[in-house]
Amino acid sequence: ANEGMWFLMHIKRLNYVDMQKMGLQLTPEEIYSVNNASLKDAIVQFGGGCTAEIISDKGLVLTNHHCGYGAIAELSTAENDYLTNGFWAKNLKEELKPKSLSVRFFVRMDDVSKRILGRVNDQMTELEREAAINQEISKIEMENNEDGKYTVSVKSFYNGNEFYYFVYQDFNDVRLVGTPPKSIGKFGGDTDNWEWPRHTGDFSLFRVYADKDGNPAEYSEDNVPLKPKYHLTTSLKGFEDNDFAMILGYPGRTNRWMPGAGIEQNVNYAYPAWVEASRTSMNVMEKYMKKDQQVNLDYASSYASIANYWKNRQGMIDALKQHETAQTKYKDEESFQEWASKKGNEKYADVMNTINDYYKKTNEISRHNNYLSLLLRTRSAVIPYRLGKELEYYMDQNEAKQAELKPKFEEGIESMYDGLYLPLERDMLAAQLDLYSRKAKNPAPLVAKIAAGNKKGVEGWQSYLETAFKKSIFASKEKLNAFLEKPDAEVLKNDPLYLLSQDLLDRYRYKSEEEKQWDNDFQRAYRLMVQGMRTQNPDKKYYPDANSTLRLTYGKINSLPADKRNDAKENYYTTLKGTVAKYQPGDAEFDMPKKLIDLYEKKDFGQYADKDGYLPVNFLSDNDITGGNSGSPVLNGKGELIGIAFDGNIEAMAGDVIFDDQLQRCINVDIRYVLFLIDKLAGAGHIIDELTLVK
Ligand code: ARG
Repeated sequence: ANEGMWFLMHIKRLNYVDMQKMGLQLTPEEIYSVNNASLKDAIVQFGGGCTAEIISDKGLVLTNHHCGYGAIAELSTAENDYLTNGFWAKNLKEELKPKSLSVRFFVRMDDVSKRILGRVNDQMTELEREAAINQEISKIEMENNEDGKYTVSVKSFYNGNEFYYFVYQDFNDVRLVGTPPKSIGKFGGDTDNWEWPRHTGDFSLFRVYADKDGNPAEYSEDNVPLKPKYHLTTSLKGFEDNDFAMILGYPGRTNRWMPGAGIEQNVNYAYPAWVEASRTSMNVMEKYMKKDQQVNLDYASSYASIANYWKNRQGMIDALKQHETAQTKYKDEESFQEWASKKGNEKYADVMNTINDYYKKTNEISRHNNYLSLLLRTRSAVIPYRLGKELEYYMDQNEAKQAELKPKFEEGIESMYDGLYLPLERDMLAAQLDLYSRKAKNPAPLVAKIAAGNKKGVEGWQSYLETAFKKSIFASKEKLNAFLEKPDAEVLKNDPLYLLSQDLLDRYRYKSEEEKQWDNDFQRAYRLMVQGMRTQNPDKKYYPDANSTLRLTYGKINSLPADKRNDAKENYYTTLKGTVAKYQPGDAEFDMPKKLIDLYEKKDFGQYADKDGYLPVNFLSDNDITGGNSGSPVLNGKGELIGIAFDGNIEAMAGDVIFDDQLQRCINVDIRYVLFLIDKLAGAGHIIDELTLVK
């Protein structure tokens, strides 16, 4: 029962009876109601990629530390380093506004499948189909945005077989209220990432501001804390093994319909390239981040996200191989093929062939694309292209227009070069170009040409780039600003970094006519496969793949199968004792603040201790989540907040393509640990007073 990322509007029809049996005490309307305040009003998408929840009537927002990470790093300097030392605003005035951070409230959703599918027919090519669908989508968006008050998004589900629209309200004035130091918020670092047992205080606090009428407003000193429609009640009561637990949030992407051949492509071509290229970037970043604290802060966030998926993708390779996931999928596909070959199902007869054929033809392409996408995460690989194109446009304008554009341009340069450390960039570019030119078949033409003329290996690229950076106007913002004073089309046209950057991005977007045809056939076949499989099993309850829309998953507090080490008697939770047992003074990942150790030694846990006396830290539930759910509330049967989801376990890394009932777990921070840290460690009792607590 724990598999599934359900739409809120379907809970009543599909899941409610099951949920009640398992321990839910709310009505469906208390979870999702269009007209009355309900749980859904307290769940927000945070910063575009994470989830968060409203926990006070003054717009207090709780999410993970790793979700607030970018904002915290951005607000930090080597002198005022909140990432290292933590930060706590003593009052509203002290709350800190990052450059850009928004939260998105969910207003309502509805099914528009009939309307959209009424616009298409089987004779259309995929491109024609897409155009027709997009036209209808624009109309739906216009009809529902209430003159720009709302953001409306229509998305495809079940691979183009269904469509739903979502109405959102965005707030762009979001401020940092508090964060523990990284030694708590990221305790265990990349060593413990994706692992259980876990001991991380992965939370941070923000606040949503609105104008005095409660409407979204850009930052202003006059803005006031948002009075939300609904905020969560927080429970200090704890829970037991097997208790009901549900999670609402914004899972990013799953591919539960992925065919066996697609899995094999990922395991053998796409992911190994991803892992290798990530490691390459990480090595270079580490070298420079260690030497300089400002560089460390400037690259903290991009390092963390590359490292996170570096470990994830290696974990996926291992898990998919170990569980022979492709074989499992092939078995389903065989039974599907049998069904599809029957009379009456001709529409689906050739679908599997087309799909398998596609993967066979695109293995090398997927390897190439993975090397190239990681390369393109190096900012200096992309900036010359972006700014160069704008410069070309700029130089085509008359003087008056140029004068008007210039300040914006200078601002753009300022923000693109902000936090860019050129020695690191140059080394990372060299390392990535070396890897890409050696490993990818059919690399970008200019890259291939330069590589052929270079000395072999990374030294060849280093010396090439040394000369290129000397010559290029993109090698620093000073050079660019100087160029802007006296633009010269010839210089730009021959700029070595501009040429390289164009080469890479052109290659990234390039598709031969043949490849376009393959994509067309594949897309159609994939859509028909999903449709066919659902037709084949009419009684099965299906849920759509994750695609960054709001979902609910329900299950229970649940340990992992035996043999797992742990510091607690039961292995569904960990305690502060276990954190202290991992403590390594001065270590980059396992250091702890002295004050936390003192509190532990004095057993000063206050009202946050479990009834058995220990201070709970993390716990496991068997809900169905994925990246994007980070920061999501874990709620008990009464809908009260008991924790925040922050990770998955490495054993279940195949979860994005197949759900494993036995192994799939969410790793959550116990809300009692969060409140203990706010109260006892930070001394921020005024925040505890803001909450609605049940004891
Ligand atoms: N693995 C987590 C996720 O993707 C992110 C954890 C961040 N912590 C860390 N040590 N990198 O949701």
